Amino acid sequence: MTDERTALATRLMHAGLAGFENGAAPVNMPVVRTSTVRFASSADYERLHKQRHDGEDVATYGRHGTATHRALEAVIGELEGAAHALLAPSGASAITLVFLALLSPGDHVLIQDSVYGPVRERIEPLLARFGIAATYFAAQDGPPRHALRATTRLVYVESPSSFLYEVVDLPAFGAFAREHGLLLAADNTYSAGVLHRPLEHGAHISIQATTKYIGGHSDIMQGAVATNDRALALRLRDTHDALGLAVGADDAYLALRGARTLGVRLAQHARHALAIAEYLQTESAVARVYHPALPDDPSHALWRRDFQGANGLVSFAFARGKTPDAARAFVDALRLFAQGASWGGFESLALIAPASRLRVHGYFTEDAPVVRLHAGLEDPADLIDDLRRAFRLTCT
Ligand SMILES: Cc1ncc(COP(=O)(O)O)c(C=O)c1O
Repeated sequence: MTDERTALATRLMHAGLAGFENGAAPVNMPVVRTSTVRFASSADYERLHKQRHDGEDVATYGRHGTATHRALEAVIGELEGAAHALLAPSGASAITLVFLALLSPGDHVLIQDSVYGPVRERIEPLLARFGIAATYFAAQDGPPRHALRATTRLVYVESPSSFLYEVVDLPAFGAFAREHGLLLAADNTYSAGVLHRPLEHGAHISIQATTKYIGGHSDIMQGAVATNDRALALRLRDTHDALGLAVGADDAYLALRGARTLGVRLAQHARHALAIAEYLQTESAVARVYHPALPDDPSHALWRRDFQGANGLVSFAFARGKTPDAARAFVDALRLFAQGASWGGFESLALIAPASRLRVHGYFTEDAPVVRLHAGLEDPADLIDDLRRAFRLTCT
């Protein structure tokens, strides 16, 4: 058995395994699908419903999940260093769950300007309809004291941020939240719990799109919310129940399976991304490379302090004078990088960052298109050759 002194890689192999029955067990937790939960007697029905009512993690209906979901929650708990984890049908629904569970009409939330785009474009308008106000802040300026209101309840960050990988000084934000009685929630999708644990740096809640590295194979949509605060966990669970956020048992199984190889995949993605980032720095068509493991990245010092590594994402801004058409020609010339919006699977991807999403980032200073790459598990020399060929074809 493992305890908290055991390395995460070891704990990840031992959490959420199938239990022994009659002295034997499969390694993997089976896919347990159900809508109805059957009870052996009315006494069992009443006992288990009372336990659930009292906050115990007992399923009395399929929507609450099965042994497969509990096993995945245990793995998420290991990854995030959390006592409580809840699953959601996508990363976006996990984020919405947190906002809806923690905020009420009249409340105010502080949101980092460089968060995942749909938070600004979809979730904030939803909050506004319910009378919840939001103010955006640039995380590189530190905790946004100037934007505090008497009604501020929550600070929401994503570190490193979408597209440009701006690292947030989470301990400073944690201290700010404690000083003003606020809750601090962090999107931890970039790190998947392996590279960084927001709950250990002052956040109350950590959120992941397990769609990405935990799934790891671009075949599921899923999210997770983790916390060490039991009262918060119960609040989240009530809203989770009200929203009916059920996750299919097959998807929970796939995420569980992905989690077993998460550490080795992530390390390989990171090696490939760093090799690509270093190559991009030598390209004359490139003005700037965004990757926190590069020593000259503005977030490098914070990243070294608070992170155990980087992932497979790297972005670059074209040199001044390159137009969006040049960026389109470049990504169209790539052969090994597919064009697609997600990341975290085994495949390499390229995406022209939407200008509307970059413009709102206080961190963004370039005047040229930006391309985000996800380094997949192909041989990195082949990936670099593909990039070099596309630059030669379209940028000379
Ligand atoms: C940082 C981040 N958070 C959340 C999400 C949303 O996850 P999902 O696509 O599973 O809804 C994404 C998806 O791209 C993301 O990049």
